[in-house]
Amino acid sequence: MRPLRLHLADFGSFREPLTIDFTDVDYFALVGPTGAGKSTVIDAICFALYGTVPRWGRENVIAHALAPSAASGKVAMVFESAGRRHGVVRALQRDAKGRVHTKEARLDELDPAVPATAGLDDLMGAVLRPIAEGDAVTAEVQRVTGLEYRFFTQCVVLPQGRFAEFLHAQPRERQDLLVQLLDADVYERIRQRAVREEDAAKQAAAFARGRLARLADADEAAEQAAAARLESLRGLAERARSDLRALRERDDAAAALRQERTSARQRLTALTALAMPPDVPTLADSVRQAAEALARMSAEVAKLAEAEQGADDERAALGDKAALTALLTAVDDHARVARALGSARSAAATAATGAAGLAEAEQRAGAALADAERDRERLRDAHAAADLASRLAVGAPCPTCLRAITELPHHAAPADLGAAERTVRARGADLERARADRRKAEVEAARVKQKADELENQLAVLAARAAAADRARVTAELTAIEAAEDRLARARRATRTARGELARAERRAAELREKSERSWREVDAARDRVVALGAPPIDRADLHAAWTSLLSWREEAAAAERKALGGVEAELAAVERARDQERSALVARLAGHEVQVAADATPEAIHETLAGSVVHAEHRLARVRENRVQAKELAEQAAAKEREEQVAHELTLLLRANAFERWLCAEALALLVAEASVTLSDLSGGQYELVLGERGEIEVIDHAEAGLRRSARTLSGGETFQAALALALALSSQVAGLAATAARSLDSIFLDEGFGTLDPATLDTVATTLERLAAGNDRMVGVVTHVPALADRVPVRFEVSRDGQGSHLRRVVS
Ligand SMILES: Nc1ncnc2c1ncn2[C@@H]1O[C@H](COP(=O)(O)OP(=O)(O)OP(=O)(O)O)[C@@H](O)[C@H]1O
Ligand SMILES: [Mg+2]
Repeated sequence: MRPLRLHLADFGSFREPLTIDFTDVDYFALVGPTGAGKSTVIDAICFALYGTVPRWGRENVIAHALAPSAASGKVAMVFESAGRRHGVVRALQRDAKGRVHTKEARLDELDPAVPATAGLDDLMGAVLRPIAEGDAVTAEVQRVTGLEYRFFTQCVVLPQGRFAEFLHAQPRERQDLLVQLLDADVYERIRQRAVREEDAAKQAAAFARGRLARLADADEAAEQAAAARLESLRGLAERARSDLRALRERDDAAAALRQERTSARQRLTALTALAMPPDVPTLADSVRQAAEALARMSAEVAKLAEAEQGADDERAALGDKAALTALLTAVDDHARVARALGSARSAAATAATGAAGLAEAEQRAGAALADAERDRERLRDAHAAADLASRLAVGAPCPTCLRAITELPHHAAPADLGAAERTVRARGADLERARADRRKAEVEAARVKQKADELENQLAVLAARAAAADRARVTAELTAIEAAEDRLARARRATRTARGELARAERRAAELREKSERSWREVDAARDRVVALGAPPIDRADLHAAWTSLLSWREEAAAAERKALGGVEAELAAVERARDQERSALVARLAGHEVQVAADATPEAIHETLAGSVVHAEHRLARVRENRVQAKELAEQAAAKEREEQVAHELTLLLRANAFERWLCAEALALLVAEASVTLSDLSGGQYELVLGERGEIEVIDHAEAGLRRSARTLSGGETFQAALALALALSSQVAGLAATAARSLDSIFLDEGFGTLDPATLDTVATTLERLAAGNDRMVGVVTHVPALADRVPVRFEVSRDGQGSHLRRVVS
């Protein structure tokens, strides 16, 4: 890790933004008064990378980073590591409650093509790829630089007052540090991997041996046996070829005989299948009887048709039945209307009499009403007179005669006027009823009279139509007509029945004719089926005779076929017997060679089995040969894996229980101490050397005290600084060479104070050593010092001062 730019704002004692350019700086000093802010610059480098600073003690106490009362602050650094350029930024912010948070943390890989002299923004802006943000930044910084925080604070930065940490550390802590610094734990990882590889090789070897065991019979004897088996089967197949040919010929002969037997059986079946239909013997008689019945029915129908015609003529001669029926109806109607007219006339007379009586009753009711009204008027007058009389006075003029009244008249009390009124109303109602009855009777009399008039008119019309009619004669004529119609109907029914029977007889005759024709076709077809067997021609005169002669020929032909069939069957049995014997002999011979075929196998099946056995033997031989090749390969494979297992096993033994790691650290420490010892001897003017004690602690040999060994802790402040510086320089120069992965490169070292404890001569030696280190150009050296004798010798000085505005930094080049 080598810084190119460091930027800080509101960090520690620095308030104003400040960017320090380390581009061309190999060796620099931070100088300035106490409390000016020198260590703060070194802190900023550490904080930028790891987010913490050694003097804060606990890690992650970021509140200390922010300048007091500043609301936010920032540290950024551009640095190079392992040939790549990176930029790291950490920005802080104080919240309302005064707590400080990381606002931004970022690590990017930067483009190295941007000139190192460019401004901070240009350098930081040329991002090749973002690497990490937030909490992940510190881990990525460790990966990129190869330096954990505690290596950084013991090997790169020797912080003020803590530079002796490595010197004074417990052997165990030192070993831990070295293990990580040297990546020595890689050997533990190698051991674990060797254990895994030992297991894997062991398994692979066991697997190969297991497969090899399964191929145990793949030896030369097996190959010879397989070859011999193949040879013998090929010979057997060659010899069996003629036997199989003979078997096939036997099979062909048997097949031909079976074919012949089948044909003979088919012919016999055709012959025995001939059978005369059961109705053939009676069919001719039936046809004849049907023809006779048909002729009979035709004659019957003709006769009945003639009788029907006669009845029809007879009926036609008897006249019009409808006219006679109408005439009879007119005669009967005339009589009925004449009777009705008589009744109507007497009813009209009765009605007229009734109406006249009711007219008189009405007159009587009118007179009774007039009487009642007169009585009522008289009573009204009596009441008026009595009323007037009651109001008269003697001497007053009389209202009717206008003369003076001399004496008051005396009126008896008149009868009740209400009764007279009720009588008038009762008489009025009587008159109304009598009037209504009279009107109703008059209407009825008019209606009855009108009906009598209408009947009279009807009678006149009917009298004209039925004038000359004789009812008895008309009735006799109608009776004769009905009798003739009855006879005609019976004649028609008889004719219809006979015609139905005639139709049935015709159908029956047609059916029998058709049946007869079909029977002829059947006998022809039956003969056709056996004509090839020599059937005689058909006698076409008589169906029954045709069948009889065909069947008698069939008996002779069937007897001849049966005899021939017996001959074929005997011959077939002889051929099959011979074939079975030959096949049994062949099957037994094959069984002798362990080739199994069924006792009734066909020649093709035997041939296939035999050929299959040969192919199987060929495969077997090929497999044995393949297995031998494979067994050889497996044996080699198993041996190789066993060797690998052995090597891995030995490696795990060598690296077991971190023994190698411990040995490596002890060696590294010895080398470090040896190199540091030379430097210390230089710095101390030959007084001190460093050695390792028995328990791994660092001791000094004091040549001023006759080479006495004592603990490094007994050194004075200045001597401690010399020893620590010597160790730090040795670490810085050796770690890269010792590290297993060679990933570390301690290409800078910063020393914060301690120089004030040195006497001028030692200071000179230290200064010379540092100048030499820086002159190598592969390492940046930075020192913080108050000592002018040292500061003046450093080529680049940064003067740090502090005022009310905070710390300030100025570069001074000598
Ligand atoms: N976290 C902090 N917050 C505020 N002030 C701080 C913080 N850390 C240090 N200071 C102050 O900042 C000033 C600079 O401190 P710094 O340690 O950088 O001084 P210095 O220049 O190294 O001094 P010296 O020569 O004594 O070592 C000091 O006054 C110190 O008390
Ligand atoms: Mg300081």
